[in-house]
Formats: sequence, structure tokens, C-alpha cells
Amino acid sequence: MTGQVRTLGGTSFIETGEGEPLVLLHGKTESAGSLSHLAEALTPKFRVVVPDLASDADIHTVRRLMDDLGISAANVAGRGSGAALAMGLATAKPQRVKRLVVIAADPSITSPASGILCPALFLAAGDEEDAATAMSSAAPRGRFSALPENDESLATLLGGFLAERLSVFDARELRSAFGSFMTGVTIVTTAGVDGQPRGFTANSFTSVSIEPPLLLICIGKSAASMEVFSRARGFAVNILSEQQKDTSVLFSSKRPDKFESASWRPGPYGNPLIDGSAAWFDCARYQVIDAGDHIILMGHIEAFSYTDSNPLGYARGGYITLGLEQAAVNAASSSSRTVVGAILENEGRLVLLPDGRSGHLTLPEVGRSGAHGSASQLHDMLARDGIDATLGFLFAVFETPATREQCIYYRGEALLHARGRTVLADFDSLPWDRLPDEATRSMLKRYSEERKIGRFKVYSGDHRQGTVKSVD
Ligand SMILES: Cc1cc2nc3c(=O)[nH]c(=O)nc-3n(C[C@H](O)[C@H](O)[C@H](O)COP(=O)(O)O)c2cc1C
Repeated sequence: MTGQVRTLGGTSFIETGEGEPLVLLHGKTESAGSLSHLAEALTPKFRVVVPDLASDADIHTVRRLMDDLGISAANVAGRGSGAALAMGLATAKPQRVKRLVVIAADPSITSPASGILCPALFLAAGDEEDAATAMSSAAPRGRFSALPENDESLATLLGGFLAERLSVFDARELRSAFGSFMTGVTIVTTAGVDGQPRGFTANSFTSVSIEPPLLLICIGKSAASMEVFSRARGFAVNILSEQQKDTSVLFSSKRPDKFESASWRPGPYGNPLIDGSAAWFDCARYQVIDAGDHIILMGHIEAFSYTDSNPLGYARGGYITLGLEQAAVNAASSSSRTVVGAILENEGRLVLLPDGRSGHLTLPEVGRSGAHGSASQLHDMLARDGIDATLGFLFAVFETPATREQCIYYRGEALLHARGRTVLADFDSLPWDRLPDEATRSMLKRYSEERKIGRFKVYSGDHRQGTVKSVD
């Protein structure tokens, strides 16, 4: 095997390959060398570590070696008594074992398989098959497979199992569900290990502890700067203000010149602070935790500062400017003539209501003809038509100069208890000619475009010649 033989903390081991860590544990009558063929066959995909285990080796021997190698969690495969060790580690330290492979388990195994929470593959042949099948049934995420006859086939089986997608969920759906949680937006920066500043946009920021002062962010393993962040002595978290949407877009890109295009200065602990941020925290590295397809960077706050700028928000894949929304709603609600309306969807179709007098199809709205509309009046009006509306985000706020009406439109979902006079229109073929005015057409045109990409902006301003001006 081409791997290096090294000793750390009194344990010799062979290490070979790069990628996800895989610890191979040999059986009682074997040595690390006995697994060399298997390790070799797995090296193209994995960083394989094969410790030479003394007869008194236990799970702490393996755990300590993982600590010394900076491996917080690994795939672990064991053969014979090594399988017993692997199962013991998965049961006692579940956070250290991502996936488990039990090869020809020693009959002396005492760890109950029911305590193994990670995905586990039990391999056995001949007489040992029954015991392995029983263990695979007891392990909540266990499965049995016949033990292949040679190391090449075993490596292929193992490689396939270890590379399988863990989740039974559709990744996009899961991401969308996570996106329902409204967050702020940060730029996480580090001075780096090579003196080159690095940074990326992140909304996974969480405050963790006041005493000691700790925070965390998660960085994806596919991020170009992941390696640098995982090794850096610290990092800074810049909480963006609502004027910094462009900076967020810049730092969420792969552009190599992010720092040339942004205005920044070094923080007290040395990490880059982005000018104009609502707050910043300059941190020392506290802990780095392996977590699925991300790593968690926990920082010890060494210095921080904040301003009273409004923070930038993010939800459902779009930016939210709370201050802007609030200012727009305040402006509109201080007017005596306020129209409150909604762009509502029912099963992917637009809800329109016919206006008996003009023959137009209008958006549900209240407050026309000089009255002062409100969201609760809109709810009541819709309820009378058998429509149960959930109003979501603000979509547009503008003034109609001719009537000096302030118009506020929300977007939302509608449940229809009765079809009544409601007209449902497909977004592909909206009845443009029957819409009452250019403002409605312009708003719905923008809505149709933004819903295609699932990103909505808030518009505010004057209604002039049928266009709604963006101040986003
Ligand atoms: C609003 C927003 C939030 C994001 N949050 C995260 C995050 O928490 N963690 C992460 O790894 N990437 C996050 N990203 C994606 C990264 O910013 C993006 O992958 C970036 O390209 C990484 O930079 P790098 O590849 O140069 O390291 C986010 C992007 C946006 C737009």
C-alpha cells in the first residue's frame, strides 16, 4: 500500500487517499496490513485510516486517534473483532460515526445493534448470515448484504453504500422548507492562512452563548473557501444592513475579486470587516464540527460592534428590507385613501373577482372610492365570497396620482370554501384585456415573472404611466 505509516499517541496507523474519512478496523488475528488491499481499492474516494490495533485496543483508542488526526466524524468499517469495536464506537459516540460497516462480525459482539442510529451495513457469509441479518433488523437504519468474495467487490459494495445519499428527502424541497425560516444575512470573512482575505455570504448565523461569548455559522463543504475557514485561526461575521444587498450578492458568488470590489478594513482580531454593516463580530476559532455536507464554525467573540442601521432580511430565497416595508406601509396607512389588495394563488392559479358594473376582473381589494381599506376588511370581504386568505409578504406599495390613493398589495394563498363568483386564471394566460388598469397589469406582469424564479421583491414608489417604480 502506498499510504504512510505513522504513529500518533502511541497508535501506529496507515493513512492513504483523500476525501471523506474512512476508518478501517482489523480483527483479532489480523494487522493493519491485512486490510491494505481493501484500503487501496477505496483510496480514490476516501481518506482511509487503518490503525494497527493492539489486543487491548478499545473504542477510546480509535476515538483518540480520530481526535489526533482532526477527524470529528468518520465512516467506520470493522472486520471480526474490529467490527465489534466499530459497533461499540457507533453506539457510545454516535456523533463520531457517520456510517457503519460491519464485516463478518465476531460472534462475541455484545453491543446491541438497536443502539446504532447511523446507516449501517452488515456483511456476512455462511453460518454468520443469520446473526448479521438479526443485527441488521435490530439497527434502526441497518441493512444486510452477502459478503463478497474478494476485496475488489467488497470495496465496490462499501464505496456504493458510503456514497449513497443519506436523505430520503428531495433536497430542493428540504431547502424550500428551511427557507421558510426568515433570517438576516451575514458575510463571514477570514484573514486566511495565506494572507489572502476570504469571505462568503451566509444566513446560517446563530448566537450561541453569552458567557463565554460564542456564535456559529455553517459553511458548505463545496464552498471554495471551506478549507481555508476550517483551518483559519478565526473569522469575522458581518451582519449586513439593508443597503448591502449588492454586497451580499457579490459575496455569494465565486468571484475571485470579492475583496477588491468591496470596501473593508481589518478588525481588531485581524479578520476583514465590511464597511456599512449593521453589526460585526471578530472571532477566534473555538470549535470546528463536522456536520453532514457542512461544517459548523464556532467562534469565540474577541470584539464586536453594532449600529442602528436596519438589518437586511432573507426568506424564501429573496431579500427583505424591513425598514423599507415599514416605511412604505406607514406612508400608505397615514393617508386617508388607502386601497389594500392581494395577489392570491389557489393551487397555482390567480384569484380574480368580476366587477359587475365595468365587466373587469379585479384583484381582491378594499378601500376603492375614497374609503380607508385595511387588511382585516380585506379578510372579511374575501370570507363573504367563501375565500380563506393567508396574506404573506408585502408585494407593492404605490400611489395612484389621479385619485391620490395609496395602494398596498400583499401576496398570499387562498383556500376556496365556495367557488362563488371567483375566477381562477392560469398565469400562462392571464386575461390582460379584462384587468382594470395599467397598474394592475404591470404588477401582475412582474408577479408572474418573479414567481417563475421563486424570488419576490418589494416595490414602493409612485405609480406613473402604468409602471410601479422599484426602490429595491
Ligand atoms: C442569502 C444567502 C445565504 C447563504 N448562506 C450560506 C451559508 O450559511 N453557508 C454556506 O456555506 N453558504 C451559504 N450561501 C452560499 C454561499 O454564499 C456561496 O456558496 C458562496 O459562493 C461561497 O463562496 P466561496 O465558494 O467563494 O467560498 C448563502 C448564499 C446566500 C445568497
